[in-house]
Order: sequence, then C-alpha cells, then structure tokens
Amino acid sequence: MEDKAKKLKEIAEKIKNCKKCELWKNRTNAVPGEGNPNAKIMFIGEAPGRNEDLYGIPFCGRAGAVLDDLLSEIGLKREDVFITNVVKCRPPGNRDPTPEEIAACSPYLDEQIKVINPKIIVTLGNYATSYILSKFGFKAENISKVRGKVFKVTTLLTTLKIIPTYHPATSLYRPPLREYLKEDFKIIARELEET
Ligand code: URA
Ligand code: SF4
Repeated sequence: MEDKAKKLKEIAEKIKNCKKCELWKNRTNAVPGEGNPNAKIMFIGEAPGRNEDLYGIPFCGRAGAVLDDLLSEIGLKREDVFITNVVKCRPPGNRDPTPEEIAACSPYLDEQIKVINPKIIVTLGNYATSYILSKFGFKAENISKVRGKVFKVTTLLTTLKIIPTYHPATSLYRPPLREYLKEDFKIIARELEET
C-alpha cells in the first residue's frame, strides 16, 4: 500500500480505538474521515452527526448532500478530496463539542494534515475555522467575517491556503447562506486551479 494511505489507515485505527475523551462512550462508530490520500484539498467540518455515527462515514447525511452538490458544482468528486472533522466521535444530540473534547481529539486532525500535506484547507463553520486559523497563527474570527477569504501560510517549501466558509448544515435552516457557500466554492475552485 502506498505510504500516505498506510499512514492514514494507522491514524484511523487509533481513532477507532480511542478513549481520550468521554465521547467514545456513546459512539456507534468513530468517523476518522475519508478520501484521496494524495488530495490537494481537505475539507474539515465540526463533528459527526447521527448518520455519520451510524455509518462511520463523514458528511453522509443531509449536510453531506449539500457538500456533494457544492463539490460537483466546481467539478470535484469526493474521491478527489479528503473530508474529515475536528472531532471524530458524535457529541450526544449533536451538541457543540467542548473545548476539552477539541483539545483531546485535534491531534488526530493535525496528524492527518501532516500526512496529506494539502495545498488548500477549507474549514466548514466556526469550529473548524477557529481551530485551523489559530493553529496556523491567525486570529480566529467569526465565520461571517472570514468566509471566502484566503489565508496564506508560506513555508520554505510550499504555500498552504486556508479558506473558511459556512458549514453546509447552516444552509439547511438558513437557505440564503447557500448563495454564500456557492460564491466561496468558486473561490476555492479558482485557488485550486492556481496551485
Ligand atoms: N456535520 C459535520 O460537521 N460533520 C459531519 O461529518 C457531518 C455533519
Ligand atoms: Fe478519541 Fe476524539 Fe473520539 Fe474523543 S472524540 S474518544 S478524542 S476519537
């Protein structure tokens, strides 16, 4: 098996056996994330919901259907990208993840980012956005302020672009946000083309 795929599988195994925070107690399945190990672009959500917990697959419910549509509008398929969450087990009743849960779980996301080494990270919603912006040394601001902006992290070897947008689930109860998501995905497509 290819090196990146093997490493991602090892991380997924650790997640499936993880008991580092209380969320393991209620999970049906942990949801490590999935997609192309060589993806240039990663999408990061908040935490699994009910469907994701049942099937162990990220974004496989209603929010996932919105995400699939947005991807296809810019010519991308799930197989082209890597999709995961900040927190890998479902918070009961879909409550927000706590700071302790995020602190316990985020090292897995850090490892996944390191292995995949994407050119673009798209953060979906406030939790992923504040985690990723802070991790890379930016000020974490509300999603409504930073959506569609491109944050560049330049190292000696490469440039990583962070692009925050709304969580696809928010467009289910606030339909006008769907237009903003579409706009932001056009920016994502443009930036991907440039890399
Ligand atoms: N919402 C998320 O943040 N992640 C999922 O995987 C599904 C819904
Ligand atoms: Fe482990 Fe993360 Fe699941 Fe908590 S949410 S038990 S830290 S995998």
